[in-house]
Order: sequence, then structure tokens, then C-alpha cells
Amino acid sequence: MMKQEEKNSEKRREKEIEKLVRQLTLDEKLTMIHGAALFASGAVERLEIPAIVTSDGPMGTRAEFMDDRWIPAGYNADMVSYLPSNSALASTWNTALAHDMGYVLGIEARGRGKDVILAPGINIKRDPRCGRNFEYMSEDPCLIKALTVPFIKGVQENDVAACVKHFAANVQETGRLVVNETIDERTLYELYLPAFKAAVQEAGSYSIMGAYNKINGSYCCEHKTLLDHILREEWGYDGAVISDWGGVHNTKEAAECSMDLEMSVFPDFDNYVLANPLKELIQKGEVPESMIDDKVRNLLRMMYRLKMIGPKKDSREKGVYNAPASREATLRTAEQSMVLLKNDNRTLPLNAKKIKKLAVIGVNAAKLHADGGGSAEIKALYEICPLAGLKMYLGGNVKVEYAPGYHVPVKPKTFEMNWQATSLDDLKNTTVGQLQRDAMEGADGTEGHKKGEEERLAQIEKDKAEIHEKNQALFEQALALAKDADAVIFVGGLNHDYDCEGSDRPDMKLPYEQDLLIEELLKVRKDAIITFVGGSPVEMPWRDQAQAILWSYYAGMETGTAFARVIFGDVNPSAKLAETFPEKYEDCVTAKNGQFGAWDQITLEEGLYCGYRYFDRQRIKPAFCFGHGLSYTRFEYSDLKLKVENGRDVKLTFSVKNIGRRAGAEIVQVYVAPIAPKVDRPDKELKTFAKVNLSGGRSKKVSLTLKSEDFAYFDTDLHQFIADAGDYEILVGASCEDIRLRGIATLS
Ligand code: BGC
Repeated sequence: MMKQEEKNSEKRREKEIEKLVRQLTLDEKLTMIHGAALFASGAVERLEIPAIVTSDGPMGTRAEFMDDRWIPAGYNADMVSYLPSNSALASTWNTALAHDMGYVLGIEARGRGKDVILAPGINIKRDPRCGRNFEYMSEDPCLIKALTVPFIKGVQENDVAACVKHFAANVQETGRLVVNETIDERTLYELYLPAFKAAVQEAGSYSIMGAYNKINGSYCCEHKTLLDHILREEWGYDGAVISDWGGVHNTKEAAECSMDLEMSVFPDFDNYVLANPLKELIQKGEVPESMIDDKVRNLLRMMYRLKMIGPKKDSREKGVYNAPASREATLRTAEQSMVLLKNDNRTLPLNAKKIKKLAVIGVNAAKLHADGGGSAEIKALYEICPLAGLKMYLGGNVKVEYAPGYHVPVKPKTFEMNWQATSLDDLKNTTVGQLQRDAMEGADGTEGHKKGEEERLAQIEKDKAEIHEKNQALFEQALALAKDADAVIFVGGLNHDYDCEGSDRPDMKLPYEQDLLIEELLKVRKDAIITFVGGSPVEMPWRDQAQAILWSYYAGMETGTAFARVIFGDVNPSAKLAETFPEKYEDCVTAKNGQFGAWDQITLEEGLYCGYRYFDRQRIKPAFCFGHGLSYTRFEYSDLKLKVENGRDVKLTFSVKNIGRRAGAEIVQVYVAPIAPKVDRPDKELKTFAKVNLSGGRSKKVSLTLKSEDFAYFDTDLHQFIADAGDYEILVGASCEDIRLRGIATLS
């Protein structure tokens, strides 16, 4: 029950909002519901209604942009903390850290004077080639939900709105502005919507961003079912809906549904879909003004919550950026995000005392990644690369020698040819941006983007010859270095030429002939530590030959510090994969059904069988499964006890023991497997988890609860979630393959 006091203050708020709505003229209302700068809405000074100032993005507050040109303003005071990507955060499975990272993002955004931060990105990872996977968390809705809720709360504690994105099912970059996705209702409700629902209902996200893509024929930014029926009616959402930049197409449709603020990439703000074109429709009586009032109400409500207007205006949080506390939280998250995939013969951790000469091989050892990837790019205050981290850790008595090992063609970044502007080029050819449209009359909708992609892929092919030629000498240099060192660390992987908004990866392979180099390297040094920085899974054909493999996502400004602390054992790795690492791309369901990466239409034929749900059902063994991750110690599980309460909820307890000497943390995962379900259901699904810290030799009792909704599926006839009576196997595991305890719960 909502406290009386809260109810009263809500009533007061709504009354004040109504008062403002009555005072606003039509022009003023229109000013508020579309961009008046590339990252801000229009203000109504007469009534002291400020502009809503937004900023990307998920990995920190983005550099300042010009108001009317898609280029950075070029200031020197807008550097910020560069935070771990959502893919890194997700591998920590740590809800407290999710809160901390949200908090840091919020406090820095506020410190930079922002009202809305365009994060977190929480789309389901459906295919490992999706260019924006690095910005997203997982293939599993339960894990995404568990991290998203505290993240958003953390952001909003700073009087900054989270803008959770991209609603919904934004699963590929190819044709991202126009692609239609055919998705069945059950899949939508069970896989693609739950984290968004939790974001608005449990975390109270003040805003949400509509996606570019279409679902079942309608653009998400003007989708009646999605925005009106599901978001507003079913979920009771009263916050603001903001479009993705250029995601609104049709004036009448956007006016008549819950799209509150249209943002875009063009400077002709008066011609935005919800600007003059809407005014004309209202004046002709084709759209009632009351629809605009609803949008204004939703925006004012968000502003009120942010203390931009209303009685608490003077007590709004002021924020701060680049505070030392932000860096510490970033380091803790980075440390817990690095996944130890393989560690035969206890190759890791390395003993620093035994090393006089360390060979570090691979371009990613020395590469900085903050300044790329798309809207997630960051102008970082600093970024410690793995090589710097190793040198800082080892100090002056160890000789650390570096060789790039392979060639990476340089792609200079120029402000005039901004990546995002380029990737949004084809917007000129769609229904938005009247001026641009006139200039390009008759052009096909995705022509610009398609052409850009063709050129990009051709360039990748062209680069291959240059890479091969240069690699001969680079390989030789690296192998010579490796032969002659006390220890060898390879740091390869991907970069934001691959993990990037606007395009998907051509395949799942390591670029730049890294596989060849690793194979050669393992021939001369079978103890070489193979590590990666990257944003999405890669094939590792030499996997059996390697003794130790460590995976880091883009882990923020302290990547290198965390990396060294993991390698030398100051930090015991505790991360686990939040996504499946397939053996080869051909094993993925999307490779089988071919429903990924088409420009105009894809059908999510696999339904619920995405990620581990598919690998489970087909009994395909991935290289590293969902939930996998090693530690320098080992854990034993025992004594599972299940207790069903009221025939619906299941309380479970079990013990976890650290059977090694070193302190560590174990992520224990609970999967539910329906026995003889009435409808087709995945073999098992993650439903809850915990991260347990244990010193060497100690054990702990873990108590967790599964609620009836954890047993439910979406019944499309009844249009609701149903938990059938019957038997369910409860599986407690260290990963989705490594199940340690089993029990059966019977629901009545
Ligand atoms: C991206 C969004 C981003 C927006 C503003 C769009 O292209 O899809 O994620 O927030 O641009 O930069």
C-alpha cells in the first residue's frame, strides 16, 4: 500500500502538471515534444519549463556535441570516467556493482548538467555478430532484469533519468533503421520484454527509448501495441517515451500513440515529425490536441521527478564527474568482469617474483578503446590498457617487452566524417528530415546505409592482403620475443571497428590473422597465456592447445589495472559468461535459420530457442557455455533442500564450500526445468542466482526463493503468464552445463 503522504504528493504533482498544461499554448506544447537541439528538447521560458538535456550513453557521459551539427563541440572539459560496458558488467553477475555503475553514470551525467542519460542498453543478444552486443548485457532475460533494476535505481538517485533502450527487440544493426522483425507474442513476452517491464515497474525508469526497428510491421517508435497497450496499459507506465534518434516516421501514428519526445539527427527542428507537420494535422482537426497534452504531461512528470520543475527545484542533486570514488567503483567492476575461460595446470595466476622478462604480444595490449563503438564512445579522462597495467604492476625490476604481433589497418577518425552521422545517413532517405528528403527525392529507404556497409565489407576484404603482407615480419618478431621470455601474455581480440553501432560483424572469427599467430605462438610456448579484449564471442579453433584463456570485455578506464591484478592473482577471477560462446558461428540458431542480418525483414523463427536455450535443446556443445567461468579456487555444492510454500513458491537452501586455500567468489545459478510441461518449453531456464564470497576452506548456506512467476510461461490465449501445477526439476549449477545439485518441486 502506497503511503498516504506519497499519494498526497502525487496528487499535488498531477495538479500542478494540469495547471501547466492549461497555461501552455499549442506552439509551446509542440516545442516541448521534439528536439530543439540534437540532444535537447525545447524550453518554455515563459513558464519556467527548461529544456530536457540528454546525453549518451551507457559507458559514461558522452562528449559535448554541437547543438545543430553532428560533430563534437571540441571542449577540453568534458572528459569523464569511462565505465565498463554492459557486457562486462553482466559478467560480474553482481547486482551491487550494477547499482554502483548506475550510480557513477548518473552522478557524472548530473555533474555534466544532463537530465536524461541514454542508458542502459538491455536488448537480448540473439546473435553473436550483432555490432552492438558489447553494449548489451546478456542472452538471458533473468540476468538482464536482475542487473538492470539496481542499475537504473543507481542512475536515478542522482536526479538524472535513465532512458532504458532500445524498446524493443533491437537485435541487429544491418538495416537497423528499417528492418521489420516478425516475432510471435509468446517469444516477445517471455524473452524480449521482461527486462523492460522490470525497468519500468521495479526500477521506475523515468524514461524509455523506442527502438529503430519495426516489430510485426510497425515502427517501435509509433507502435500502438508496444507503447500504448503493453507499456502504458499493461505495465501502468507513466514516465516519458523518447524516440531513438530519427526513429519516428509518421506524424499521425506517432501523435496518436505514446511517443512523447521525438529526437533526431537533423538540425531542421521545425520540420521534425512532431513539429510543424503535427501542427498542421491539429489545425486541420485530424489529430486532437488532447493527444499532445498527454505527451506533455508525461514529460512534465519526468521533469518533476528530476526536480527540474516543482517545489523541490532547489534541492536537486548537483552531481560530480571524475571523482576518485568513481574510479574505484570502475576498478572493482572491471576486476569482477574478467572471465577465466580455461586454466589447465594452474597456469594462472603468474608468480610475479619468478619473472625477470615478460613478453606481451598483441595489439590489444596497447590499444585504447574508449573513443569508439558508436553512441557508447567516451572521451575518457584516462584509460589504462593491459600493457600499461602490467608495467604499472610489475615496476622497474621486470623487463616487459611488447610486440604487436599482427597488423591492424588504421582508420583515422575525423570529426567531419563522424561514424554515427555516417551510420545514420540513410535517415535522409526515409520519412524524417524534410529538407534532406527533398534533396534526395526518390531515393530508396536504406540505400545510404547499404552502400556504406558494402564499402565497409569490401574494405575488410581489401585490408586482408595488406594484413597478410605485414604480418610476416610481425609474427617473426613476436615469436622471437616469446621464445626468449620467462612468461608470455597474448592480448588480442576485437575493437570498435567490429564491435560497433551501425554494422554487424561479417563472421565470428578473430580478425587480422590472430588465429594463425596464436597457433604459432602456442607451438613455441605452450604456456602462453591467451587473453582477449572484445565485446562479443569469437571462434577459438586453437582452444585445445591453449592452457589458459582469459576474456575481458571493454572494461573501462581501469581495464589494465584489473587485468594485471587478475593475471598475478591479487584478484581471484569470479566472472561468468552472460552469453554462450559457440564453438563456431554455424552452430548458432540464427546461422541455421538464416534469420539474421537481412536488410528489410527477419523472422525470429527460433522463438524462445535463443542462446543456451537452443544449445541445450539441440545438444550442441558450445566452446564455453552460458554461466561458465573459472576461479583460482574450487567450490563444492551440497545439501539441496526444497520447500514448497502455498503450493506456489519454492524456498531452496544449499551449501557452497570453498575447497581451496585462496578466497574467492562463486556465482551459483538456479535453473528451472519443467518435467512434462503442457506446452513446449525450453529444457531449462535461469531463474535466480547469487554471488557468494568465501575465504579458503569456508562454507556458506545459500537461501533463495523461486516465486510462482519463475515457473510460468506466457499463455497467448489467456494473454497472461501461467504457472502450471506439476513437477519441476530445480537445477543448481556453476554454469548451465555444470549442474551440481538437483531436486524436484511439485507445484499445486
Ligand atoms: C542510437 C542510440 C543513441 C542515439 C543518440 C542512436 O543512433 O541508436 O542508442 O542513444 O543514437 O546518440
